[in-house]
Amino acid sequence: MMERKRVIVSERIAEEGLQLLRSELDVDYRDGISRSELLDIIDQYDALIVRSVTQVNEELVKKATRLKVVGRAGNGIDNIDVDACTRYGIIVANTPDSNTISAAEQTISLLLSSVRNTAWANDVLKAGTWDRKPFRGTELYGKTVGIVGLGRIGSMVATRLKAFNMNVIAYDPYIADERFERFGAEKKNTLEELAQEADIITVHTPRNEETMHLINEDILAVAKNGVGLVNCARGGIIKESAIIEGLESGKISSVGLDVFEKEPATGNPLFNYSRVVCTPHLGADTYEAQKRVGENIAEQVILALKGGIVPNV
Ligand code: NAD
Ligand code: MLT
Repeated sequence: MMERKRVIVSERIAEEGLQLLRSELDVDYRDGISRSELLDIIDQYDALIVRSVTQVNEELVKKATRLKVVGRAGNGIDNIDVDACTRYGIIVANTPDSNTISAAEQTISLLLSSVRNTAWANDVLKAGTWDRKPFRGTELYGKTVGIVGLGRIGSMVATRLKAFNMNVIAYDPYIADERFERFGAEKKNTLEELAQEADIITVHTPRNEETMHLINEDILAVAKNGVGLVNCARGGIIKESAIIEGLESGKISSVGLDVFEKEPATGNPLFNYSRVVCTPHLGADTYEAQKRVGENIAEQVILALKGGIVPNV
């Protein structure tokens, strides 16, 4: 009998995905495994499945002598050094479409709770104070949202915010004009132009050298006073020190963050501000998205180990 191939899963994925993997492979489910242990044992596996915490870099892949495929159970691949994987002959597969609805909905949730001070009021009320004065918010109706990156998630956010009668403007230098038209977004040719007109800015780009600190002090300097910010994409696309500066000066009135420059984030100075609503990278954490992601990454990893054509490489 042929020996079954071995996969290690280093972060939490849905049971449906694990079941699918177990039907074909030997599965080592090691959610939260330490870096040093992973480095010690990675040479025993044909496949590795990760989410956003495990850093798949040169240090890891050079020890992974049997590894044929890395499956990213999710969308962004900024924790994976794809060039290093390619150099070592390792396929990288992800599930870019499986959690986009959930990420778009989380963006809307952060946006609404930040402009209405929902989380702050919740904390104060539960701590025993009935007060309404500090929590007066703003309507979305008639306001302008500036979407940076009109890809899968940015465009879903545009569609949903149209239902609130928001005026949607967008900056994305890499897409055709037709895409702006399709999603009812007015095209802005520069980030500065977008910042000057937006009441709320929400970012939906990948994180890379170009987009790290894309929204920084210079962009905020030309933004409207009292601008709101949302980042449900990747930590650092909006520079955290610039957010603190803007909150202190009153330039920024509300912030919704799902992602942080350093994750896991504990003790981040932004947690000290009542006007900042934070969630611990929950954009994709719905039952529906995790089921899709788990099944999808399992299918792709199995296919890759069988030498098939993998759709999202
Ligand atoms: P996508 O690739 O479909 O869209 C990204 C868009 O950004 C593209 O249209 C691209 O042209 C544009 N873009 C690239 N560089 C840009 C720049 N410098 N300025 C303006 N636009 C630029 O990606 P997506 O699936 O929509 O994902 C968007 C982000 O959301 C990614 O960072 C992804 O990792 C993140 N994400 C987060 C969660 C979460 O749990 N919080 C879940 C899923 C995805
Ligand atoms: C993603 O890129 O898919 C998200 O950040 C969500 C995740 O990793 O779970």
